[in-house]
Amino acid sequence: MKEELLASIEKVLDHSQFILGHEVKTFEEKFSQYCGVNYAIGVNSGTDALFLAMKSLGVGKGDEVITVPNSFIASTSSIIATGAKPVFVDVAEDMNIDVDLIENTITDNTKAILPVHLTGRPSEMTRILEIAEDKDLFVIEDCAQAVGAEYKNQKVGSFGNVNCFSLHPLKTLNACGDGGVITTSDEEIYKQLLALRNIGLKDRDHADIWGYNSRLDTMQAAILNVKFKYFDDWTEKRRLNAKHYIDDLRNIVKVPEDNDYMKSVYHTFIIQTERRDELQRYLLENEIDTKVHYPIPIHLQVAAKALGYKKGDLPVCERQTETILSLPIYPDLTNEQMNYIISIIKSFF
Ligand SMILES: Cc1ncc(COP(=O)(O)O)c(C=O)c1O
Repeated sequence: MKEELLASIEKVLDHSQFILGHEVKTFEEKFSQYCGVNYAIGVNSGTDALFLAMKSLGVGKGDEVITVPNSFIASTSSIIATGAKPVFVDVAEDMNIDVDLIENTITDNTKAILPVHLTGRPSEMTRILEIAEDKDLFVIEDCAQAVGAEYKNQKVGSFGNVNCFSLHPLKTLNACGDGGVITTSDEEIYKQLLALRNIGLKDRDHADIWGYNSRLDTMQAAILNVKFKYFDDWTEKRRLNAKHYIDDLRNIVKVPEDNDYMKSVYHTFIIQTERRDELQRYLLENEIDTKVHYPIPIHLQVAAKALGYKKGDLPVCERQTETILSLPIYPDLTNEQMNYIISIIKSFF
């Protein structure tokens, strides 16, 4: 799509509105409509989206935020950046937050629940929203891996008070650099976020709050507006590829099973096997690159030491860390390539 992207970039060069040019607004409008919310706010990255979302809700020092240990590190680093304390809840077999364990971790300081729709599979939002309502907590969805995913026919990014997406080049809807977007249907939060991402300014010269510089770049918005046209097709291809793997590998390794009230978008396709490391080496010998998302749970990272967790505290997550392997899943993967990958996996076992 190089030619189409270059034409879009050229328009930005011509009008030279590099900061918050009209392409940003266009993207925000398309994105909010897509998610079924009132507002979208383009920011610098998914990490900033999470940090600013929590700032807009007043999350800070003395507060606790409940989240998962098996996500990309930014889900937690953004909590730390606000001054709040992350509190980890173990995950269920589907690799998302185990909703039966949430209530045990709620204290007087708990301010929010931050579920991650890992791999593009929605978390159990009905139960999360019930708990949040019952205990008067905010919900912040980390949808970084899940643009377009649906839970009970509703798009992720429309359940929580404020919700966060990454547009990083490795994500399913991706810019040619860093980018992120926040969604909300609350007008007050929206106004707060517009200022927070723009150094606190409410107009050229007035700031009512202290803010940050975290605007979605106009050039990236121009790129995203082109890519967005193709996004649903790409997602469908990912889902077809996932189905192909599931049908062919179900009896050999543990695969992520779809269910009828969720639409997963398969940012990653993760299989599980006790022989993970051996299989990964064998696949590489056969020119198939795989990755582990993620090899070190967040609570066991050196950076997390002061939080006081130790090995064994979050057993399901820790067990999965030893067995998970992400297979290639991108939309352009051909059937021939998939059949090759599947045949190599079969020959290994
Ligand atoms: C679950 C999750 N949360 C947050 C982020 C942070 O997004 P970004 O890299 O755009 O800062 C990512 C991806 O990088 C992610 O996968």
